[in-house]
Amino acid sequence: MKVLLTGGAGYIGSHTAVALCGAGHEAVLFDNFSNSRRDVVERLERIVGHRVAVVEGDVRDTGLLQRVLRDQEIGAVIHFAGLKSVGESAEKPLEYYTNNLQGTLSLLAAMRATGVDTLVFSSSATVYGEPEYLPLDEAHPTSATNPYGRTKLQIEEILADVGRADAALKIACLRYFNPVGAHESGLIGESPNGIPNNLMPYIAQVAAGKLTHLNVFGADYDTPDGTGVRDYIHVVDLAEGHLAALEYLAEHGPGDYTFNLGTGHGTSVLQLADAFAEASGKAIPRKVAPRRPGDVAACYAKTEKARDELGWTAKRGLAEMCESTWRFQTQTLNQGTGA
Ligand code: NAD
Ligand code: WQD
Repeated sequence: MKVLLTGGAGYIGSHTAVALCGAGHEAVLFDNFSNSRRDVVERLERIVGHRVAVVEGDVRDTGLLQRVLRDQEIGAVIHFAGLKSVGESAEKPLEYYTNNLQGTLSLLAAMRATGVDTLVFSSSATVYGEPEYLPLDEAHPTSATNPYGRTKLQIEEILADVGRADAALKIACLRYFNPVGAHESGLIGESPNGIPNNLMPYIAQVAAGKLTHLNVFGADYDTPDGTGVRDYIHVVDLAEGHLAALEYLAEHGPGDYTFNLGTGHGTSVLQLADAFAEASGKAIPRKVAPRRPGDVAACYAKTEKARDELGWTAKRGLAEMCESTWRFQTQTLNQGTGA
């Protein structure tokens, strides 16, 4: 199948493009490169061993999307494009609402105009808000505490409405937990601008000597070692989850389906820092700092629905997540190129 990946040059999109090509599908990337570099495409092509089609454009450009969907004879869309920083979303809510909401509405209009009826959407475990119980299953109540989370929640609601109104639409909302790691080649991975907000890229920069130490945001949570617990999932496992979702939609037909993509295992900040030190052979100096506002103590997935219905489970462990991150850091980021 020919699949359009909006935001396909980004962190998760580029890994999903590799997985799609590996499974014999054809990937067409659609990206405005607002948070990715053009040279990711060459590195991606080195991995898959052939050229990959790329369209530079903004998802809010409905006309362009329509032309691409029609001319390239696209069979399904995976919608990654959007802004994703929780902190930035509180400072620039309008940018988040226009990019994420308007972008999705534009895509839906283009799909309707061209008769493309299959959509996989990048949602997030952030839609669960403060956990009322753990592990988080798909039926857990949803809420949002920041504009970024609200865009994900609102998009899920829009998709449900659009799905109810159009009996042909096949929609899968995938709620990602904490994606980390990189492709085993070390050619593509996560490359945040400036000082990373997220734990794994921050630790990688400490190991690389670019940052002096890790600030551990709170060591007095009600968790086994007092630090925050999250469900880190290898980005290649996550990419494979998208393949499983596409296959599921093709088999099960129209509907609006929601799946958690996580491992089901919680890892603390200190456990991740220790695993990274082990994988990289570098010390990760750390200092306890105040809790980060808005953080929850623990968040991890119930994964049975994805296992039973999609036939998908995460296979890669913490060591592989850290080793691949370190390979990307040393082979690509430290050389001055990045995703
Ligand atoms: P990313 O920033 O690496 O990738 C997003 C891509 O979309 C970038 O290449 C960017 O240039 C592009 N883009 C942004 N706005 C665009 C627009 N208007 N038109 C065209 N292209 C546009 O992010 P990622 O980590 O790969 O995340 C992909 C998706 O997954 C996002 O929707 C994000 O919200 C969601 N998600 C990410 C995480 C995470 O921790 N990385 C967790 C849960 C959900
Ligand atoms: C993980 C743990 C921190 C940095 C975010 C978004 C979420 C989703 C994934 C998109 C927490 C601690 C972190 C540091 C630390 N993205 N930490 N020192 O907050 O679980 O999720 O990314 O949808 O919506 O909120 O991930 O990697 O920022 O934090 O101690 O320098 O690491 O307190 O316990 P988070 P994270």
